[in-house]
Amino acid sequence: MKTNDIYVAQTRLAADYIQDKFKSSFNPRVALTLGSGLGKLAQLIKPVATISYKDIPHFPVSTVPGHEGTLIAGYLEGVPMIGLKGRKHYYEVADEVRPMDIVTFPVHVAANLGCKTYVATNAAGGLNPKFNIGDLMVITSHIGFFQPNPLLGVHHDFGGNPMFQPQNEEYSPKLRTLFKALDPSTREGVYVADTGRTYETQAECLMLRTLGADAVGMSTVPEVIVAANRGMETLGVSLISNVIAADGTNATNHEEVMAVLNSREMEQKLSRIFRGFFKKVY
Ligand code: HPA
Repeated sequence: MKTNDIYVAQTRLAADYIQDKFKSSFNPRVALTLGSGLGKLAQLIKPVATISYKDIPHFPVSTVPGHEGTLIAGYLEGVPMIGLKGRKHYYEVADEVRPMDIVTFPVHVAANLGCKTYVATNAAGGLNPKFNIGDLMVITSHIGFFQPNPLLGVHHDFGGNPMFQPQNEEYSPKLRTLFKALDPSTREGVYVADTGRTYETQAECLMLRTLGADAVGMSTVPEVIVAANRGMETLGVSLISNVIAADGTNATNHEEVMAVLNSREMEQKLSRIFRGFFKKVY
């Protein structure tokens, strides 16, 4: 389909570049974005192609240390997928023209490649007092009002994506149930996206809790909105990397958090759950 929307054309160019690197028989069904502390999941994918973001035309490259920019195409438990190791956050591009187009570029590319499912993972602060460091939380819904909505401004027409996006069951009930059933310790709750780069003050944490949020992070929401707008079924999973105390303070010790996230035990748990999920998803 021809378009005079430069952004749409750029996402197609990026998808064509990636498709060229695959064997022609490889058609990814899932795009899996790996957040902080979850990058090791990429090792579960049996690769058919590994591509650096910087080589893909127009693809955004993250500037955050520890956010590697690599696309791994391959199979996880037999499911053809692309793993996106590293993402662009709103706080990195807030001063650019149409920042959310940059943040959500990879999601459009995934849709252009034919992916039907979008799985976003992230590290988040636990606002819910029952949560512990290292818990996984399946996102049931989100609060995204603190960042610009990615569908604001010119409507990018990819052929049928709606101008007004309903957000009922934005996070697929089917995928949520499937994921949650894999481990009894998995939590569920509402994710709120803050702008960053600041972490939240004590008063802000108390406010976010009052609003009904269970976990706070700086990503995921714009990606999920665009994934849904492009007709993909979505799942969001937060890894609770720090916990916010009853009085709203975030007094977590960074070394303590890294020890949990980088532990062998954590790696094994993530690997078991995500393998289990992809074994059952199709
Ligand atoms: N706040 C915002 N983003 C985060 C946090 C947090 O406490 N932890 C990990 N990402």
